[in-house]
Amino acid sequence: MSVPTIKLNDGSEVPVIAIGTGTALFGRDCANAIQLAIECGVTHLDGAQAYGNEASLGAGIKAAGKPRSDLYVVTKLKPGTKAADVKSSLVDSLNKLGLDFVDLFLIHTPSRDGTVQEIWQAMEAVHAEGLAKSIGVSNFTVDDLKAILPRAKVIPSVNQLEIHPYVWKAVEPIVKYGRENGGITCSSFGGLSPLIRAPRRTRRPVTPAQVLFKWILQKGAFVVTTSSKEARIKEYLEVSHVPDLTAEEIQAIDNAGAKQHKRFFGKQIFGDS
Ligand SMILES: NC(=O)c1ccc[n+]([C@@H]2O[C@H](COP(=O)([O-])OP(=O)(O)OC[C@H]3O[C@@H](n4cnc5c(N)ncnc54)[C@H](OP(=O)(O)O)[C@@H]3O)[C@@H](O)[C@H]2O)c1
Repeated sequence: MSVPTIKLNDGSEVPVIAIGTGTALFGRDCANAIQLAIECGVTHLDGAQAYGNEASLGAGIKAAGKPRSDLYVVTKLKPGTKAADVKSSLVDSLNKLGLDFVDLFLIHTPSRDGTVQEIWQAMEAVHAEGLAKSIGVSNFTVDDLKAILPRAKVIPSVNQLEIHPYVWKAVEPIVKYGRENGGITCSSFGGLSPLIRAPRRTRRPVTPAQVLFKWILQKGAFVVTTSSKEARIKEYLEVSHVPDLTAEEIQAIDNAGAKQHKRFFGKQIFGDS
């Protein structure tokens, strides 16, 4: 299955879905996960020096046996790396990955000690050498972008940010600023957070079904449901351990539902056709 691409401001094309080696895989051997992803049709792989697993990312790429030209491989500069060490750190990453270049090299987080401009110059240098086909940033605010853009010879291609509905209001100005100042494309991490993290006020993740059941229960109704699967039945029963949705979460679900009237059962109840 081929994944659509998006064109960056330097003309390169990026597959719009990436599999990352951080969060769940942070600090862990990701070779099997990466091999599986590539075998499923993933071509865009998002690594980072800080994840401590670039060698296994490289092993997964090798095991999958896909031509290099079919893959889009990203790594990120470890937070705290000095400008003078940018190139050696990337060369080290390339050795671990078993690659001659990465498709995209990002500053993982902005340094706010006055050195971000010189770090960006070092990023431009590895780009000029062809060690990174595209360069960009991550977790940069508008102010962080303003710290590098006026003297940048290469405009960052990408700003990788947490993007999902719960942060959209806060993140939209950064997305807009980047778009309007050199055509910086944003990539998102944490996109599933509303599903898997936001309601998670316990050690266990909360499933969409549990959120819907909580919503029903907090409306004062009880739940009549069905399942032929043991795992689902247990998931339903676990709803009693899920903390209450907040008033804002309930309102957000109400608002989303109010956008359309869509019933699935008997029409006599609501008097619609
Ligand atoms: N630049 C940065 O600072 C930064 C920060 C964070 C992350 N990242 C990058 O973004 C990548 C993805 O990060 P993310 O974890 O934040 O992505 P995400 O899309 O928010 O979440 C992916 C996780 O959701 C789980 N999941 C999917 N559907 C689910 C469901 N219905 N119920 C329960 N769990 C479900 C998956 O678990 P299963 O494995 O069980 O399917 C997976 O672990 C990282 O690997 C990293 O490369 C970058």
